[in-house]
Amino acid sequence: MIVGILGCGAISNLIINKIENNNEIMVKYFYDRDIEKAKNLACISNGTAVLDFQDMVDKVDLILESASQIAVKEFIPQVLKKGKDVIVMSVGALLDKDLWNEMKDISKKTGAKIHIPSGAIAGLDAIKAGSVGEIKKVVLTTRKSPSSLGRDVSKKEVLFVGKASEAVKKFPLNINVAATLSIASNLDIDVEILVDPKIDRNIHQVFVKGDFGEFTTETENLPCESNPKTSILAAYSAIQLLNGLTEPFNLGT
Ligand SMILES: NC(=O)c1ccc[n+]([C@@H]2O[C@H](COP(=O)([O-])OP(=O)(O)OC[C@H]3O[C@@H](n4cnc5c(N)ncnc54)[C@H](O)[C@@H]3O)[C@@H](O)[C@H]2O)c1
Repeated sequence: MIVGILGCGAISNLIINKIENNNEIMVKYFYDRDIEKAKNLACISNGTAVLDFQDMVDKVDLILESASQIAVKEFIPQVLKKGKDVIVMSVGALLDKDLWNEMKDISKKTGAKIHIPSGAIAGLDAIKAGSVGEIKKVVLTTRKSPSSLGRDVSKKEVLFVGKASEAVKKFPLNINVAATLSIASNLDIDVEILVDPKIDRNIHQVFVKGDFGEFTTETENLPCESNPKTSILAAYSAIQLLNGLTEPFNLGT
């Protein structure tokens, strides 16, 4: 499987450093609006940086988006139209119902698959299983450091209380997991975002209640060195998803 990367920042750097290129997965093409970033990753992985996104679409089996919500809108529908699979990291974009429905319609027609990694949370497998019945409530409480949120505060503050669809617009770089949980549960989930100067981790607590019972998970994420907004586990989840595509078995839901 030949993979092209859209967006060559913190997540794709971690991916390139951790993934083992082999006959089954070859991360070969790189595109970024900052060509130097694409060249940097191409150099590390012996791949090719492209100046024009279109130059890599026909050459790959799958595009891994790790750029931005705007990039999802701009590039991903055309990738799906060509029948190529995608992994989407900027999941917040998918809470735009028109875009999400358009992408799913194209995929049905062309057979291309849209993959969404679990990101920096635990429990997505159980929510997916629970959604076979009725999920009644999902609450995401996210605590982040001031550097992660780009805020300068001296004491803990609540920055946001509301629905995921609103949260991903107000914090487009920070709260993709809210979108992932919403898609998994088929609910516009409840979100609370706090900034806490006493912590240096991105902490996501997820509460889920359904006709199966209820559970709570808490994930204390160490941030990526090059981007404190992004958790290491988010990049690892994309790598594991990629690996899973070539494995002979599927573990979990
Ligand atoms: N799903 C999750 O759980 C999760 C977790 C963390 C981050 N994210 C999201 O993944 C994306 C990447 O995260 P990151 O930490 O690697 O970010 P980053 O800022 O380190 O890197 C993003 C790269 O994409 C490039 N880029 C941005 N918009 C572009 C566009 N329209 N066209 C071409 N290139 C573009 C930038 O130049 C940059 O090099 C972000 O949208 C982030 O919010 C998702």
